[in-house]
Amino acid sequence: MEVSTLEYINEYQSWVSNPEEYWMEAAKQIDWVKFPTYALNSSRSPVGSWYEDGLVNTCYNAVDRHVADGMGENIAIIYDSPVTETKKKISYNELFTAVNRLASALSANGIKKGDRCIIYMPMVPEALISMLAVARIGAIHSVVFGGFAANELAVRIDDCKPKAIIAGSCGIEPGRIVEYKPLLDEAIVQASFKPEFCVIFQREECLAELRTNRDYDWFEFQEGHTSIDAVPVGGMDPVYILYTSGTTGQPKGVVRPTGGHLVSLSWGMKNHYNITKGDVFWAASDVGWVVGHSYIVYAPLIIGCTTVLFEGKPVGTPDPGTFWRVISEHNVKSLFTAPTAFRAIKREDSQGEFVKKYDLKCLESLFLAGERADPDTVLWAQKMLSVPVVDHWWQTETGSVIVGNPLGIEPLEIKVGSPSVPMPGYHIVVLDESGKDVGREELGAIAIKLPLPPGTLPTLWDAEKRFHDSYLKTFPGYYETGDAGMIDKDGYVYILARTDDVINVAGHRLSTGAMEEVLATHSDVAECAVIGVPDQLKGEIPVGFICLNSGVNREPEVIENEVVKLVRERIGPVASFKTAVVINRLPKTRSGKILRSTMVKIANSEKFKIPATIDDRAILDEIHEALGRHGYAKTKNF
Ligand code: COA
Ligand code: AMP
Repeated sequence: MEVSTLEYINEYQSWVSNPEEYWMEAAKQIDWVKFPTYALNSSRSPVGSWYEDGLVNTCYNAVDRHVADGMGENIAIIYDSPVTETKKKISYNELFTAVNRLASALSANGIKKGDRCIIYMPMVPEALISMLAVARIGAIHSVVFGGFAANELAVRIDDCKPKAIIAGSCGIEPGRIVEYKPLLDEAIVQASFKPEFCVIFQREECLAELRTNRDYDWFEFQEGHTSIDAVPVGGMDPVYILYTSGTTGQPKGVVRPTGGHLVSLSWGMKNHYNITKGDVFWAASDVGWVVGHSYIVYAPLIIGCTTVLFEGKPVGTPDPGTFWRVISEHNVKSLFTAPTAFRAIKREDSQGEFVKKYDLKCLESLFLAGERADPDTVLWAQKMLSVPVVDHWWQTETGSVIVGNPLGIEPLEIKVGSPSVPMPGYHIVVLDESGKDVGREELGAIAIKLPLPPGTLPTLWDAEKRFHDSYLKTFPGYYETGDAGMIDKDGYVYILARTDDVINVAGHRLSTGAMEEVLATHSDVAECAVIGVPDQLKGEIPVGFICLNSGVNREPEVIENEVVKLVRERIGPVASFKTAVVINRLPKTRSGKILRSTMVKIANSEKFKIPATIDDRAILDEIHEALGRHGYAKTKNF
């Protein structure tokens, strides 16, 4: 470590010199039923098993203990929903009552420790109540983001085999109601595994039809139920499974271990985000993503904060001043969102006219993650808000920050373009293809030396081999992050690109492989490729290339529209797949490998040398022309 600041170095070194002691000390922030006798067991798996002989309950730590500490009247959740014009405050006492009632009803209906429950809900308090209630009885939740289509939900049902599904009747997107119930019904038809029952939270914007003998109304289901004790689970028992994109259409079920999750989130709130009990924290994300799990729900509640649950968009609900209104109205100390949200606001209010309308004195910091924070956006946010703008890097797999700027230990110098430095628990290296450490200032694959710290994934749900193949095989002794970048001479880490087929669209992680699998199902498509091309607002967006079967003589535009529709139907609107182009052939090397990175360079008008291995250069001209028709590849640089 060459970072020249004392407090951070001391903290990091205290982890390096005695990780066991470091994580046992951190575990004291959690109320255990049985305190673990050791932190790490590395004999079970190279990634490590944390707090395995401890007994604990997540919901108890997020709710009960604050009520027991006399904080019951404090506000746990502020629900602010410009799309329904609703605002509501829920105290810890009220949350305790609501969570107990649902947990008791779930238990009475046969849900027990280790059972899975899928939660398919919009951004309403009932989503958080559901997550906490499932955790209370030691069951495992798997939240599915509302922007996914029925097919994606079906894939997750088949993978985690939920005994129950808790869903909302609808989500509300600006200008349209997204009816969840027909998607849920369709998913259950498509899935081979059938849940025993569903609990439906009816929103007044759209009442869903309930199926006799399978669907319960949220309120009727809970009638007569009051409370149930939190069920202690082992430190390594999963609290949740969260599916994330891999390189194929089959998403990866990231498993979150209970003990490490609690410890890492409480450690991070204090040391990284500089947030303590009673503060108001706002993560403007969605409960369907890992940011939502960690920073809308669990971390703020575990340490006794007030969390803001915002159902709206940064712009258009109703204007680009919404974020500033929420901050000033609810006294938000820290905001956490994806850079895309700020790009959207900047696009509509570059001069910050809406910023001036609100008193933002309460705001002390802005945290950005989920995608690369481009310097323009960071500098604009700094100028508008006059607070530290902290980029930090993490993944669904880790559940919390890997590389960041630990404001709670000591704010470090911000280098725009870098999420700063590794957090205790993370030994980051940059490796070349042979697995050799390339040292400083050199590009390579970013890897983390094993074991991984508490809270990170110990495996993928029901897919141990895939877990090893995806993360541990390429670089023995290291976890492969899938990101490429470098470490500079001062020890700052830079995250520059993915090394796999994952793209990042508006902070949402998506698989181009999954989209290709959908395109390939179209009867006229012989071959296809999907690439992520740079986008001013969303960072990246997918563009598909399709080659048609010989003999197909329908209009290319018709087929292009059909495949766009197909991706929306099969993956969901969240894929933002709006452009497909028909071309004659895909550019390939002589050995048959599709030259995706070359296609991205053409789209981005980047200068490059035509690869010597390409089988036919004319195809690059065809791609350039096709992209040009869709507003990409403005100039030709090859
Ligand atoms: N349920 C149903 N549909 C959803 C949805 C949900 N929960 N969330 C998004 N969608 C739909 C949108 O309506 C949109 O549909 P459309 O193609 O019919 O317009 C599509 O999915 C793409 O959504 P999104 O990527 O959010 O784009 P957008 O144009 O609606 O909004 C931003 C653009 C920048 C305002 C928006 O992406 C945003 O606020 N991003 C913030 C970043 C963020 O929350 N990241 C999460 C990880 S931290
Ligand atoms: P997700 O699992 O959805 O959180 O996505 C994780 C991926 O998003 C990472 O592997 C990175 O590719 C990207 N990512 C997240 N945070 C950052 C960041 N601060 N800078 C650059 N890329 C990021």
